[in-house]
Amino acid sequence: KHISWDVQAAQKDGFKHFMLKEIFEQPKVIRDCLTGRIQKGRVVLPELDALNVPQRLTVVACGTSYHAGLWAKYLLESWARIPVQVEIASEFRYRDSVFLPGDLVLTISQSGETADTLAAIRIAREAGVPILGLCNVVGSSIARESDAVVYTQAGPEISVASTKAMCSQMVLLLLMTLSWGVRKGVLQGEILERCLHDLPLLPDQLEAELPTIREKAKTLSQEYADARSFFFLGRGQNFPLALEGALKLKEISYIHAEGYAAGEMKHGPIALIDQHFPTFAMALGDELLQKVASNLQEVQARGGRIIALVNPGASPAVENPWVLSDAWGPLKSFLVLPAVQLFAYEMAVYLGKDVDQPRNLAKSVTVE
Ligand code: AGP
Repeated sequence: KHISWDVQAAQKDGFKHFMLKEIFEQPKVIRDCLTGRIQKGRVVLPELDALNVPQRLTVVACGTSYHAGLWAKYLLESWARIPVQVEIASEFRYRDSVFLPGDLVLTISQSGETADTLAAIRIAREAGVPILGLCNVVGSSIARESDAVVYTQAGPEISVASTKAMCSQMVLLLLMTLSWGVRKGVLQGEILERCLHDLPLLPDQLEAELPTIREKAKTLSQEYADARSFFFLGRGQNFPLALEGALKLKEISYIHAEGYAAGEMKHGPIALIDQHFPTFAMALGDELLQKVASNLQEVQARGGRIIALVNPGASPAVENPWVLSDAWGPLKSFLVLPAVQLFAYEMAVYLGKDVDQPRNLAKSVTVE
C-alpha cells in the first residue's frame, strides 16, 4: 500500500500552527484509516492475516502512543477476549520480561524511530516472539523490523505534540480488535454491526463539532490560565484519555498536570485539591458516570474547581459543564480526544508558548 504525501501536505494550509492543522485533520484521518478497511460488513486488515490471533498481547510504546495502547486494552479484552499488557518501552526494555507461547508484541509508534520502542522490538525478536508494528511512517526502522505492519495513514505529523496520529492509532486498534474478535468467534453481532455502522459517520460529526469544541477550549483555557497544576481524571477508556490530556497540557503550555484514574483520588491525591489546583474530569454518560460524579463531589467539597467533559443528559451536577455531542460507546473517545488536545493548544497559545516546537522536546526520541 503506497502512502503518498507531498510538500503541500507538510505546510500549514492557513492554520496558525501545525498542531492546530493536524487536530482539524482528524476527521479526514478517520476517513483515510477506514478507506478499504470495511467491506460488506466486515473488517479488512490483510496485514493481520499472516499472524495468528494472539493468545496474549504485549503492547509496547512511549508517550502518546502508549496512551493509545492503554485505550485499546479495554476493547481488546472486552470485545476480542485477548489478555493485554501495555508496557512503557523504556521500562520494558530493561526488565527481564517473561514471554509465553502465543504471545504477540504490538509496537505503536508514529515516527517508527523511537529508540526505546525499537529496543523492545529487538528484545521480542531475541525471544522469538512475533512482532506487529502500528506505525505512521513507511519504511521506518520499526516498520522494517516488524514481522507485519499496519500503517496509520495519518499523513505527515509535523507538530512535536502528537494529535492526529493518536486518533489514527485508535481507529486502527479498534479495527484490529474487531478483526481478531471475529476470528476468535467471540465478538457478538451487535457490537460489530454498530461499530461498522457508526464509525463512518464519525468524521462528519467531528468535522461539524470541532469549531465549537475549539471555542469552548479557548474560553476555558483563558479562565484557567492561572492554574499551577491540573488533575485530569477519567475512568475506563477515559483514564488513558486523561493521561493524554495531561501530557498535552504539560508538553506545550508547561503547566504541571497529572492524569489519574478517578477512583484513585481518595487514596491520597485528593489531599492536593484546593482552589489553585483545578480538575479536568471526563464525566461522559457511560456506566461509570455515577462513580465519576461522586469523585467530583469530593473534589468540589474541597473547593476544587472543575472542568467536566459531559455529553447530553449526563451532567454530573457541576456548573458550566463542557457538553460534547453523543456517540456510541468507545466512539465517544473521538470527541474527547480533540477536546483535551484543543484545551492544551489554546492554553499554550494564550500563554504565548511555542506550540509546534516546545522547549527541550524532539518530534522523535531516537536516543534513549
Ligand atoms: C506526544 O505528544 C509526544 N510527542 C511524545 O510523547 C510521543 O508520543 C512519543 O515520543 C512516542 O513517539 P512515537 O509515537 O513516534 O514512537
